[in-house]
Amino acid sequence: MSDSVTHVIDMATPWLSILSDAFLFFIGLVVLFLAIVFIRDVTQTKDAVLRNYPVIGHFRYILSTLGEFFRQYFFAMDREEMPFNRAEREWIHRASKDKSVNIAFGSTKNLSQVGTMIFENCPFPTLDEEAAEIRPISIGEGYCDTPYTAKSLINISAMSFGALSRPAVQALSKGARMADCWYNTGEGGLSSFHLEGGADIVFQIGTAKYGVRDEHGNLSDEKLREIAAHDQVKMFEIKLSQGAKPGKGGILPGDKVTEEIAKIRGIEVGEPSISPNRHLDVNSVTDLLDMIFRVRAITGKPTGFKSVMGGFQWIEELCLEITKRGIASAPDFITIDSGDGGTGAAPMTLMDHVGLPIKESLPAVVDILEQHSLRNRIKVITSGKLINPVGVAWALCAGADFVNSARGFMFALGCIQSLKCNKNTCPTGITTHNTRLQRGLNPQDKAVKVANYVKQINHAVGVISHSCGVREPRELQRKHVRLVQHNGLSTRMDQLYPKSKQS
Ligand SMILES: Cc1cc2nc3c(=O)[nH]c(=O)nc-3n(C[C@H](O)[C@H](O)[C@H](O)COP(=O)(O)O)c2cc1C
Repeated sequence: MSDSVTHVIDMATPWLSILSDAFLFFIGLVVLFLAIVFIRDVTQTKDAVLRNYPVIGHFRYILSTLGEFFRQYFFAMDREEMPFNRAEREWIHRASKDKSVNIAFGSTKNLSQVGTMIFENCPFPTLDEEAAEIRPISIGEGYCDTPYTAKSLINISAMSFGALSRPAVQALSKGARMADCWYNTGEGGLSSFHLEGGADIVFQIGTAKYGVRDEHGNLSDEKLREIAAHDQVKMFEIKLSQGAKPGKGGILPGDKVTEEIAKIRGIEVGEPSISPNRHLDVNSVTDLLDMIFRVRAITGKPTGFKSVMGGFQWIEELCLEITKRGIASAPDFITIDSGDGGTGAAPMTLMDHVGLPIKESLPAVVDILEQHSLRNRIKVITSGKLINPVGVAWALCAGADFVNSARGFMFALGCIQSLKCNKNTCPTGITTHNTRLQRGLNPQDKAVKVANYVKQINHAVGVISHSCGVREPRELQRKHVRLVQHNGLSTRMDQLYPKSKQS
């Protein structure tokens, strides 16, 4: 062996010895750690799996947590996940980046699945030069001092500052202004961040009346006037219920109640913000009409209510009461939410099993309004998984004037459906008040994405309407859409709901 090789070996020997000692020390630590876990597992009494399978039992929990992510990235097919599958989410991600939403080769959708919407294409579709602009609709015209005219088919549904982070609210506000759609504050009150982008605002009056309540929690005329004095605030929406939690008030977990949010809501920092499960002063359709009258009279702006439908008898009663009082007493709009709507936090039982899905409730409510000759007076807004052009076009066919979306806009903001809205750990900064996580959400950049999403939805619904042979989306009717039935064949919507005069 040459001298130089011997020299290298001599140099390396002490290092090898240190490394092998370190390795042995590390192994010792691991063994000690496993021994502690073992003793803890077999002596605890709360978890049967860990007691019976000490140490290795932990893999069950680790794998089931990781499984959530693995399924999304590796195993779930494009049309499989809930509440929104990859194909639906991907459409929004591409649309919001203003990229092409064209796909190749053929549809991956199972077209014989019950409820699939199939639009009746016209053999002689509308030519581009025959197409018309989307028709704006006026809300409260002739019944309010300041009616509101809106055009966008899709608008931002109620999501409070609190459920959403500050940069998310800023991005939505700016994006809504760029796209010329409205932005509903949700039940958490109005903040400067809602206003700073210059968007049209719908102020929601939740059951706790955040932002418009006096020191006893009652509706304050003075606060209503203050809110209505903002030109940007265009309408007032009284929230009776939302699809994800009918009969339960808003729930903002304590760790999301920051100083800023506590101030806007008038509550304590760090305390959970729980609203009553109904307006204490609204216990019947007559109370509801009284409240609508009061809010409209004070604010001069269109006033309506939001509800998920459980049944329809009360809508019949509401219409009869309106007929008795006179058409001016009617709400200027009704927002119908779907039983499968989203939220920041709600009990699973209510999310899964209380409140009708929009496919059933929207056409039914529209029909009742028509039967009472109130359809023109009361504008219909609707929400519930209508995040892609097909859902929006279906809602227009069913009789809606406007669509609202919450989660569609969350996807436009970059949401990856990690289902952590209730944990203050949202990885995309949308529903967290952790400033480190919020750093990923640049309001300026995301505002452009929000605007692109609206633009692409309005455009794509236009394309569907032209394919159906009408000039613009608001000319779509029930006769233009078919729904697949249990036998795998589709039936035209006007035949499913023959009472409607629409067809
Ligand atoms: C994070 C989050 C917060 C929400 N906050 C409110 C709220 O304050 N008031 C309300 O009426 N609805 C609220 N909703 C419900 C939405 O406005 C909407 O009705 C529902 O999610 C259905 O629309 P989507 O399927 O497009 O999400 C919230 C939804 C989400 C996802």
